[in-house]
Amino acid sequence: MDRIRIRGGRALKGTIPISGAKNAALPLMIASLLTEETLVLDNVPRLADVSLLQHILSNHGVDVTVSGKRAGENENTGQTLQLSARTIVDTTAPYHLVSKMRASFWVIGPLVARMGEARVSMPGGCAIGIRPVDFHLDVLRALGAEIDIEEGYVLARAPKGLKGARIEFPKVSVGATHTALMAASLARGETVIENAAREPEIVDVAACLVKMGARIEGAGSSTIHIQGAKHLRAARHPVLPDRIETGTYAMAVAMAGGDVVLAGARAELLQTALDLLRKAGAEITVTNEGIRVRRDGAGLAPVEVATAPFPGFPTDLQAQLMALMSRARGTSRITETIFENRFMHVQELARLGARIHLDGETATIEGVEKLKGAPVMATDLRASVSLVIAALAAEGETMVHRVYHLDRGFERLEQKLAHCGAAIERVAG
Ligand code: EPZ
Repeated sequence: MDRIRIRGGRALKGTIPISGAKNAALPLMIASLLTEETLVLDNVPRLADVSLLQHILSNHGVDVTVSGKRAGENENTGQTLQLSARTIVDTTAPYHLVSKMRASFWVIGPLVARMGEARVSMPGGCAIGIRPVDFHLDVLRALGAEIDIEEGYVLARAPKGLKGARIEFPKVSVGATHTALMAASLARGETVIENAAREPEIVDVAACLVKMGARIEGAGSSTIHIQGAKHLRAARHPVLPDRIETGTYAMAVAMAGGDVVLAGARAELLQTALDLLRKAGAEITVTNEGIRVRRDGAGLAPVEVATAPFPGFPTDLQAQLMALMSRARGTSRITETIFENRFMHVQELARLGARIHLDGETATIEGVEKLKGAPVMATDLRASVSLVIAALAAEGETMVHRVYHLDRGFERLEQKLAHCGAAIERVAG
């Protein structure tokens, strides 16, 4: 298994290109199941999760083609995928695939909407909490599907097709909003989603569904109206830039010091996080190219924040912020309100010398003068990158084990950081 070796203490200088958003690319790829025609997606990041979803979709009968390199493109240009679900040959998503990536459960919406049936394995446990799928099933029931659970599989049946309905979520859910959007796009009549997730990735998927022929209004607000279409058609859509990758590198610069342009990043996708970083002492400016992040030698101020659905501070940046605050001048408090068990990074950060006390859903972080390199273990995607951030400012060498978690969601992380002067390398095997 690959590891990543980092020697801390170097400031970062240069440009980091921001990739397409993983959490938009995955549901966009799943949306290809809704039409017999070809969906072309540009700016798709090269990630293990994307490859795995290509495999899962091809199992349902989707032909996935990756376009070759074009003139003027380099390794920083996202890839173009052509997805053609002309014939769905299999409406079952098996356990051995769904258990590897939770988002693959989301095929259930398009499959039942188009084929009138789907048999999808329950996703099972995961490192960041229980994460049930009840809201997804409630959506499909509301749209007229019959749901049974047999031998760990959800069977959804709607032989006469889905019918528009009013759906009100008891709690904001990104995934269940995706399921509702996709399923309602092929349902008869109007669907209204109340308490919908407002994340930019929802807006991106809705924009793509509109290009495919669905009529959707209100994406990005809490109430979304969808007029279903009989058929959806071919479309071409670019994946929006990854706001979590952007925030992660902004925090890496705030931690290591330096001056970096995050090329292609869009500030409006992560305003709350950028405001917080400014408060902590990073200099952040929006430029034509993207977002410029600077920090000189001065120490960081502590912060208090709770994670929240968009436009609040994202849970997917919680671990990275905790790493950053481990060296602030004072005591920070970070409360995790989305997932009940998303603190696996705490014990690993402690191995580097961080002082963090957990009390329920709140972590209290007492800033320390110095972190010291150590062997650490990646536990989930965002937790692992928090260890990289801490290691950039730690004295000596840190070896991050189990980096396959990082490869799921960060494209060429070690090259992007090394290009800006970090002493970071992948050790194979
Ligand atoms: C999405 O997960 C993201 N995944 C997650 O990113 C992200 O952390 C999360 O949204 C929150 O922003 C992708 O986009 C692929 P939810 P999702 O449904 O949709 C509860 C990463 O690191 N809930 O918004 O699965 C749930 O337990 C990942 O890139 C139910 O109770 O999250 C949680 O407390 C990890 N029943 C809350 O809602 C349900 O049926 C929000 O979860 C569904 C969710």
